[in-house]
Amino acid sequence: MLTASLIAKKRDGNELSDDEIQFLIDGFCKGTVADYQMSAFAMAVCLRGMSQAETASLTQVMWRSGQSAQRQSDVPRVDKHSTGGLGDKISIVLAPLLATCDVHVPMISGRGLGLTGGTLDKLESIPGFRTNFDLDDAERLLTATRCYIISAGPDIAPADRRLYALRDVTGTVESVPLITASILSKKLSASLDALVMDVKVGSGAFMKTKTQAETLARSLIDVGRAAGLPTQALLTDMDQPLGEAIGNAIEINEAVEVLQGGGPNDVAELTIELSAMALVAVRDSTSLDEARALLRQKLASGEAFQAFETMVAAQGGWWTGPLSLAQEFDIFPKQSGFVQEIDCRAIGEAIVALGGGRQRAGDAIDHSVGIRLFASVGGAVDTNTPIMRVYATSERRSEYVDRLVQAIRVSSSPTSTRPLVLARVE
Ligand code: URA
Repeated sequence: MLTASLIAKKRDGNELSDDEIQFLIDGFCKGTVADYQMSAFAMAVCLRGMSQAETASLTQVMWRSGQSAQRQSDVPRVDKHSTGGLGDKISIVLAPLLATCDVHVPMISGRGLGLTGGTLDKLESIPGFRTNFDLDDAERLLTATRCYIISAGPDIAPADRRLYALRDVTGTVESVPLITASILSKKLSASLDALVMDVKVGSGAFMKTKTQAETLARSLIDVGRAAGLPTQALLTDMDQPLGEAIGNAIEINEAVEVLQGGGPNDVAELTIELSAMALVAVRDSTSLDEARALLRQKLASGEAFQAFETMVAAQGGWWTGPLSLAQEFDIFPKQSGFVQEIDCRAIGEAIVALGGGRQRAGDAIDHSVGIRLFASVGGAVDTNTPIMRVYATSERRSEYVDRLVQAIRVSSSPTSTRPLVLARVE
């Protein structure tokens, strides 16, 4: 087979066979398919798409480029994955919460790049917290703590690791088949029994419209099931941030509030919903309502917080109370009225520019940078009450005041609040 011919075949919109996809990905891992060829292939896939059979084949080959966790017990293994959104700290609550319900949660997570933060970066705000475990060590963690949140090391879908790095710099991230194969190749490596996807829709997400998000959800569900992993999805709103906290340390603090039975309602409710779906997927005899009630009780009783402390300690960290944040200052709206729209992109860009996110892979992050947003769409604001509190170093913060004020569009006409869960895709 000739690499250039296979790229041209996809460029012309033809379907590749399993063997052809295997040839490309194996060659990429061995070095016989060059980075520039794989980048051209990724662009051809972006423009021409892939059939479900091709996407399933790509997922399998990328998954098999690494190892899979060797289960040490019959305890059901569940996980949730989000396509990423501003203020999304659900994983940090969900993993320890589900660990209190007699399931294992082996969570392989990602770093922030672009505007949305990454779970691993947030967790690394906790002193000593480590995310780099190989799959064998991670299995030992799971036996001891029932949950872990780790990075995809060299043993987990290495083809995805290299391909994602190319996609990130060649404008080829936004492709349903490539996103599907990327997410599922890593999730399949964790040997799960059920996966729940949180597919975000809106200005702060990859998928800007509900139709695009539905297509991605369908692809993840179909390809996940074809690989033997029962997968379901919620489409959830990302036209405004989730919760109040946006950043790294600040989101850990908010996640802990939820784990202790408090915190913002949207974060708690979405965590409960996604966790309940995961529980019901592996427990035929439990209804969604029963699962929701159990999960609420685990949050209220402090059990979920204890599981978080256990997970943090097992991964080398120590939790001694809320993490400290950079110097704070308040921002006020220019007019009183009702919030019409929140520009997630502008808020995400401000966090990155203030040092709380990465412009390029490998950039250092200031974990103490963050924003607490007091406004939500449909809510009333007035010029005497802050709409957000910014935590950042004093030299840089004043540059962003105007942009942040403009990110919250206020007018005098009342508007309705936004639903958080837009659809359930089974
Ligand atoms: N998350 C991933 O792991 N891969 C993608 O391609 C997009 C989001």
